[in-house]
Amino acid sequence: MTTDLRSALSQVLETPSAGAPNDCYTADTVFAWERDSLFRDHWACLGFAKDAPRPGDAYPVTFLGQPLVMVRDKENALRVFHNICSHRGVVLVEQACNTKGVIRCPYHSWCYDLGGALRKTPFVGGPGVDTHPDFDPAQHGLREVRSHVWMGMVFVDLSGQAAPFNLAHASLLSRWSDFADAPLYNSGADSTIELTLNANWKLAVENYVEAYHLPWVHPGLNSYSRLEDHDNIVEDQRYSGQVTRVYRPMLSQDGAAFPPLSGLSEYWDTRGEYVALYPNVLLGVHKDHFYGILIEPISAHETRERVEIFYFDEASVSPDFAGLREANTRAWRLVFTEDVGVVSAMQRGRTSPAFDGGVLTPVLDAPTRCFHEWVARALLDSATPDLSQAESA
Ligand code: FES
Ligand SMILES: [Fe+2]
Repeated sequence: MTTDLRSALSQVLETPSAGAPNDCYTADTVFAWERDSLFRDHWACLGFAKDAPRPGDAYPVTFLGQPLVMVRDKENALRVFHNICSHRGVVLVEQACNTKGVIRCPYHSWCYDLGGALRKTPFVGGPGVDTHPDFDPAQHGLREVRSHVWMGMVFVDLSGQAAPFNLAHASLLSRWSDFADAPLYNSGADSTIELTLNANWKLAVENYVEAYHLPWVHPGLNSYSRLEDHDNIVEDQRYSGQVTRVYRPMLSQDGAAFPPLSGLSEYWDTRGEYVALYPNVLLGVHKDHFYGILIEPISAHETRERVEIFYFDEASVSPDFAGLREANTRAWRLVFTEDVGVVSAMQRGRTSPAFDGGVLTPVLDAPTRCFHEWVARALLDSATPDLSQAESA
């Protein structure tokens, strides 16, 4: 299978119209390969900075099967650690909480500070003796994962080897430089949407980056932001998507609109941009609000999506705008829910021997093509995985 899949992925790179083969979406072995290469070696998103908003907050996350924890220190810096006690491997933080400055293991009560240093080791030298000459606490702190916060989202580099985030994603950061220092306000439950897809995570990405399906799947959206009002975004090999030239801010019945971000260039007056930042983030940016979608792969066949909507002005999250916020969330929920059926249907189609990648059309599937190339390259560039081990797992 390894050889077959490698040659199929090479074929994808050589043939612009070739889609990734079925195994990429259905095989547990490929899912394991992606986990151990795509997601490990590149900046992947595991959550939102707002999940740990106050100094001392700890927010546990199981990311691709690994227990991790986001921790906000007293200086307000967010860090990510492996959520495991260095003594006997107990998971440290089971539920979101405020630590009051100390992460205490529930098993033998070792205590770590918010920077991950091991500060207390009760009875490490025997009952009543908390030190021992053969035990150096400095060697047994929490293991930190390289992380970076951008646009309210927390990215991790599990390999520790990726280029710095600002370099790796310089192209998108430059494209969206107007939003670089934007304050982000999120009002919690009324700005959150959660969906579960019976589909591989890549199909969620692929469906998001193209506007081709707009007329048939999103007739409401297409009535004012038509397919022909969109252009592809494919200038970089680490993200792709589409831009609408006719973004229309939502208005309340009395004509009120969310205050836009100040200092934006004229370009953003009428535009909205929608891109997938590979591997697992979907983004939508407009002059008055922004959303990030965390794509969480659960298995080859199941994916969770969490959408968080952010505004650029504190007034937008005040009670005065509750109705408009609710309408905005409802509108986006409708759009994202409209996609669920076709994404699941693509997954079911990939169990058929009559399909094996299909055909990507030259114009409107270009953003999908860009993603397929990235996936194929990232897999082919990674060390040959031991798929026999994954197969027997
Ligand atoms: S496992 Fe954490 S203190 Fe023993
Ligand atoms: Fe869609």
